[in-house]
Amino acid sequence: MSKNEPSKEKLSTESYKGVRDFYPEDQAFLNYLFATCRTVAKRFGYVEYGASILEPAELYKAKGADNEELVNEQTYTFTDRGGREVTLRPEMTPTVARMVSAKRRELGYPLRLFSIPNLFRYERPQRGRLREHWQLNVDLFGSQTRAADAEIIQVAYEILKAFGAEEKDFVIKLGSRAYIEALAAECALTEEDTRKLVGLLDRKNKIEKSEFEAGLAELGVPLEKLNGEQVPADVQAVLDTLAAGGVGNAVFDPSIVRGFAYYTGVVFEVYDTHKDNNRALFGGGRYDNLTALFDDTPIVGVGFGMGDTMVYHFLEVRGLLPAYSAPTHAYLAVATEAEVPHALAIAGELRAAGVNVAVDFGEKKLADQIKTAVKHSIPYLIVVGANEIASGTFGIRNLLNGTEAPHTREELAAFFLSL
Ligand code: HAM
Repeated sequence: MSKNEPSKEKLSTESYKGVRDFYPEDQAFLNYLFATCRTVAKRFGYVEYGASILEPAELYKAKGADNEELVNEQTYTFTDRGGREVTLRPEMTPTVARMVSAKRRELGYPLRLFSIPNLFRYERPQRGRLREHWQLNVDLFGSQTRAADAEIIQVAYEILKAFGAEEKDFVIKLGSRAYIEALAAECALTEEDTRKLVGLLDRKNKIEKSEFEAGLAELGVPLEKLNGEQVPADVQAVLDTLAAGGVGNAVFDPSIVRGFAYYTGVVFEVYDTHKDNNRALFGGGRYDNLTALFDDTPIVGVGFGMGDTMVYHFLEVRGLLPAYSAPTHAYLAVATEAEVPHALAIAGELRAAGVNVAVDFGEKKLADQIKTAVKHSIPYLIVVGANEIASGTFGIRNLLNGTEAPHTREELAAFFLSL
């Protein structure tokens, strides 16, 4: 820009509020998270699927699918150029229910599916809660059994174990929508009051004990029904199956009801036991009627969602985050620009052997090229200069400890492949 040019207002480099940019190290963590989730889900026979981020807005408004707060206050909804109301998906469950319904006759049951979608919710950004997150979804369709409920929870448990967690690091809290419905019937609650009861239970841990008890009294629901001492039969059956599967940190908690209207049976949330991470890592449960939105005979379902941000904090506070390692194995630096064609030829040989190589274009001094390699956390450096080309011997420098060893051009690939 010339000195006389008027200075224009520049755009901000900040990302949109509540969403993230993933620089290579951040993306590497996400990739690690996804890879771990994929490994465990596949180990249990789950198969990956995907769908578009865009859905018709009506999918989230339909009665039975809704979560009032989510639909009314948290969706990103807009009208497209054709006048259709479109929503950036805030969760995956309605989408997978739609997909299963669309091919209900072709699919085999029990059907085990998983996906790792990017989701959007207009939430107030805070620790662990953003306007965009990645969420592992694991769902099982076509089985009414307690074994199916338990399997879904076992997958959640095994994922945390695969990240290096121990049982003391988290607790799996189970509740029962069926139990709440039965209780509502016993207390002759109207539909409206039942919804209030669910809302009150959902907020139990965020409000004062006295407020919770006053709310129950107002609805005419006896406190002893909700103190956790009487474990509902459906929850007990799942707890027994989990115990048989070696899960020792699952408990009944009557305040676990889940905010979504579609849950019908056992519901659960997984909590971090660290005091700084007081939000749920996972949430899910049985939803037997959701596909009734699309077809008269519903296909029963059970599943969970697990968000990336909470897992990050879970691993961070325990020192379980993996160290970053660059995907590039070697950096080829050149003494002068004249050696670039030689460096390219060597890089070609290494790449053909399966080594990841980046070549410097020689615009900077050698010392600065080395600095670039270090900045990119590339572990090895090879200098390509006139002497190396003439002798056919190249030093492979370990940038982490500064050691260097000579290798012939033919030996270079073998060095990296033996690492
Ligand atoms: P959910 O409880 O809304 O359930 O979300 C599941 C998990 O996603 C939460 O426990 C949390 O880890 C993460 N999560 C949710 N919202 C955010 C946010 N704004 N920022 C970061 N992480 C977040 C569902 O979405 C259900 N559809 C899950 C399900 C699948 N039920 C059956 N199948």
